[in-house]
Amino acid sequence: MHYLDNSATTKPFPEVIQSMAWTMEHNYANPASLHRLGFKAEKVVEDTRKMVADELHASPSEVIFTSGGTEANNLAIYGVARAYQNRGKHIVTTAVEHDSVYEVFRSLEKEGFSVTYLSVDESGFLSLDELKSVLTNETILVSIMHVNNETGVFQPISEIGKLLVNYPKLFFHVDAVQSFSKLTIDVHAMSIDLLSISAHKFHGPKGIGALFLRKNKQIMPLVLGGGQEQGFRSGTVAVPLITGMGKALELTKQKRVLFIKDAEHWKKDLLATILMIDGTILNGTDGVPYILNFSVPGIKSEVLVRTLEDEGIFVSSKSACSSKKETPSRVLLAMGRKKTEAISGIRISMGMLTTSTDVMACGQALRNVIPTLQHWIKV
Ligand SMILES: Cc1ncc(COP(=O)(O)O)c(C=O)c1O
Repeated sequence: MHYLDNSATTKPFPEVIQSMAWTMEHNYANPASLHRLGFKAEKVVEDTRKMVADELHASPSEVIFTSGGTEANNLAIYGVARAYQNRGKHIVTTAVEHDSVYEVFRSLEKEGFSVTYLSVDESGFLSLDELKSVLTNETILVSIMHVNNETGVFQPISEIGKLLVNYPKLFFHVDAVQSFSKLTIDVHAMSIDLLSISAHKFHGPKGIGALFLRKNKQIMPLVLGGGQEQGFRSGTVAVPLITGMGKALELTKQKRVLFIKDAEHWKKDLLATILMIDGTILNGTDGVPYILNFSVPGIKSEVLVRTLEDEGIFVSSKSACSSKKETPSRVLLAMGRKKTEAISGIRISMGMLTTSTDVMACGQALRNVIPTLQHWIKV
């Protein structure tokens, strides 16, 4: 079996599973409890909070644990919109965001907010000039993803931050679910106010993530209750999941330099293989080394995903949450691809447990399977 669907989720490192099992057995107290066991549980939560903060060049008090990337994105966007709607009702995002951002903007649009969806060019990049031209006195939020989950294309977050510094009344949110722990992020140098992350994208457990919220900035919470996480996210803190996230981050930091180097070679080899197959189109090749996307017009993504699975290769059609819907990829359409191209997109994504054998097997399977399918379609 060759698992190359790491943008959908990654396999947890064995050490992550061990640390979580140990915590559930030996460190089960509620971190809010005032006794010794509560303090012991609180310690592991705070250790992970500091690790996440250090990775972002932030302070621990700026990290709020959530149930994952989706909740972090919802909290950031609804949180700003609801808290600052008296200041203005214009919010800005891009046409290529993950559904956990895109759908929140659509719902705010129905509530009466005016939304600008920035376009991208055929390589998947937005235009700073377009961003600048849409900002008004009414703009309270700009939300732009770092690395795109379907294509791996990354937006120029530092340049965007530099531009937005001139608009102190608005908030800058970044969905960094696909970049955190792999690419360098400095929230202060990049002038980011809010940033979302998710542990299962870096070999941690599912159901845990975090939102960075810049110090002294207020947003409206989504979940009310006992006032945990400084009141921004009530609910008993998920100690075992947070332990697993900390362990995953620790290991990812040790492995990432080698991983990025390996992934650069793997992507180059796979792209060369794909280009040699007649009728294929690459989508957004200038992205991160660990994600690549291509289309084979005439062969629907679902068909190719299933045929590759028969060869032991596990890849994706588009983002995991929408891959069961037989619709063209919204991201590829936004990049100007035709419908036949956008309905036949395939994503190959590598993780820190990927090996050269996986990549070679994938290349071989693509060479066998695509021309065969193309032949049968013509017959
Ligand atoms: C870019 C991006 N944002 C947000 C999410 C949602 O994260 P989670 O699965 O932790 O809810 C994903 C997951 O695929 C993603 O790729």
